[in-house]
Amino acid sequence: MSARLIQGSQIAAQIRTEIRQQAEQLQAQRGIVPGLVTILAGEDPASQSYVRAKQKTAGELGFHSLQEILPADIREDELLELVGRYNRDPAVHGILVQLPLPGAIEESRILYAIDPDKDVDGFHPVNVGRMVIGKPAFLPCTPYGIQQMLVRCGIPTEGADVVIVGRSNIVGKPIANILLQKAAGANATVTVCHTRTRDLAAHTRRADILIVAAGRPRAITAEMVKPGAVVIDVGVNEIGRTEQGKRRLVGDVDFDAVREVASAITPVPGGVGPMTITMLMLNTLQAAQRSAS
Ligand code: GUN
Repeated sequence: MSARLIQGSQIAAQIRTEIRQQAEQLQAQRGIVPGLVTILAGEDPASQSYVRAKQKTAGELGFHSLQEILPADIREDELLELVGRYNRDPAVHGILVQLPLPGAIEESRILYAIDPDKDVDGFHPVNVGRMVIGKPAFLPCTPYGIQQMLVRCGIPTEGADVVIVGRSNIVGKPIANILLQKAAGANATVTVCHTRTRDLAAHTRRADILIVAAGRPRAITAEMVKPGAVVIDVGVNEIGRTEQGKRRLVGDVDFDAVREVASAITPVPGGVGPMTITMLMLNTLQAAQRSAS
């Protein structure tokens, strides 16, 4: 039997409707419009398209949306100065510096300069630390989106065996921390696998919920999945172009084969991807709400 499709695009649209309503309320009651600045240095085409998409969504939600496009040879001190300026700008509630940064700029120095109260990416150590100890924090957008997908699809995480493939700071480590919290939408038993894991399939086959952020196209095959498991595919891999020149994307999961084994699965594209930008908007709304209290 074919697995149920977890349509991130539909869940994201529903959350965006909620964000729009709350943003209107914030403006009507407190005169505050959520403000987001996206900072892009260099000309990486993937980063350009991500930043465009973030800007577009912010605009559609009626946010105050600013963009800084900087040359690839920008100096670290210039970037720090810009971040400092937006830290002090009361009309800006969220600051996003698109990664990767070009050249010799040390990413951590830039990310750590962002005011943690404006860190809508959830990458500042203050927010990472708060997340780990279960205190209110800005959660990184992709893991936050994955948790929301599970909750809103009614997939129970309590006591579930969750196996994560990939230990990145952006996805693997934070989703592990989020799902093991003693909290609703969490309380899972979490295993994190990585490139040095012995017998990966032995782990993945135990998973009630398998979350894959390995960065390798179709790395997870049907034999690696327990029948009835829920499979969340975070991978986005370009495997060529269509005749019309559009990018052909596949995830880290062999979708056609795994959907015959799993009970629910996210497609690529249209699964996790649309959730990420939406959670960035939710974090920006929450930053604006907090600034009012
Ligand atoms: N580059 C790839 N993913 C992300 C993300 O979530 N945030 C930022 N700032 N840069 C990224």
